[in-house]
Amino acid sequence: MSKVVAIVGATGAVGVEFLSCLDHRKFPIKELRLLASARSAGKALPFKGKPIPVQELTERSFDGVDIALFSAGSGISKKFGPIAVKAGAVVVDNSSAFRMDKDVPLVVPEINAEAIKTHKGIIANPNCSAIISITPLWPIHKVNRILHMNIATYQAASGAGAAAMEELEASTRAYLDGKDYAPKVLPHPYAFNLFSHNADIDLATGYNGEESKVIAETRKIFGDPDVRISITCVRVPVLRAHAVAVTFQCEKPITEKEARDIIAKAPGVRLVDDRAKNYFPMPRDASGGEDILVGRIRQDLGDPTGHSIALFVAGDQLLKGAAQNAVQIAELL
Ligand code: A2P
Repeated sequence: MSKVVAIVGATGAVGVEFLSCLDHRKFPIKELRLLASARSAGKALPFKGKPIPVQELTERSFDGVDIALFSAGSGISKKFGPIAVKAGAVVVDNSSAFRMDKDVPLVVPEINAEAIKTHKGIIANPNCSAIISITPLWPIHKVNRILHMNIATYQAASGAGAAAMEELEASTRAYLDGKDYAPKVLPHPYAFNLFSHNADIDLATGYNGEESKVIAETRKIFGDPDVRISITCVRVPVLRAHAVAVTFQCEKPITEKEARDIIAKAPGVRLVDDRAKNYFPMPRDASGGEDILVGRIRQDLGDPTGHSIALFVAGDQLLKGAAQNAVQIAELL
């Protein structure tokens, strides 16, 4: 049955990808309502070749809406999410506002699709680094429990929104032209540089918000509060796909072949693991694609007991890390 779908934050980096995912995945749409700030009212965005006007988000925006896809930041979700639910919509929220709420399912369809059934109006879309890191690991965890993951992320500009992507391009151009560029969106010079993730840092523990999200959200999505996670999140000068180095330790011994065979069959994942050509997952290859690329699968030599595997992953932050995962949830609804 066709649905009335609203997109909150339609003009943002994730917002425009909602449009392309809905189109590309042939989501049955009766009416599409594009919502953003007053600054964007009057603009139009193309959908299936036709311009759709962008409206200012207001408390009346959700009348008659079946599904509301939110990606306009936590504050907007906290304020307007409950308003949308009250108006009768089911909210799929890409922000962190409700992810750890015990009444809100936090869903990666390839991992815990059944959690959707427990929703009370809001379903949360997980953090992009969590989705991209753990989707390939879940089929292994199911057969040989993962006790510990050691994660290092290489995160693209897109995770900080459209303005950060523009900043990466503009600052790179300025650098090459020998001009000064004062960072406006991110805290440090971005061209030909990388830095610790820009999320707020906890002064007591030294962990930033991105790292804390991946730890807490992985435990919730896996339904395993005991999985141990070591993590460092870093922003790199890449436009839109995150890469992640993961080493994980299992309960029972695991060989490289066993890990590769399981991952080769994992939904939403594609092996890119050509040692002879030194060809492995790259953000460039992951960008614009639906699959999470996995490669460099090898025994972790740091664990002589044979319980640990190392691998490298790349996935489109705006697609599987955000819009596509949310649209997959909407499809299941
Ligand atoms: P706008 O383009 O009108 O500012 P990104 O994650 O790429 O930074 O995008 C954020 C999205 O959230 C944009 O679509 C932006 O709309 C939207 N947004 C930001 N503030 C508001 C607001 N106060 N009301 C509605 N939408 C907002």
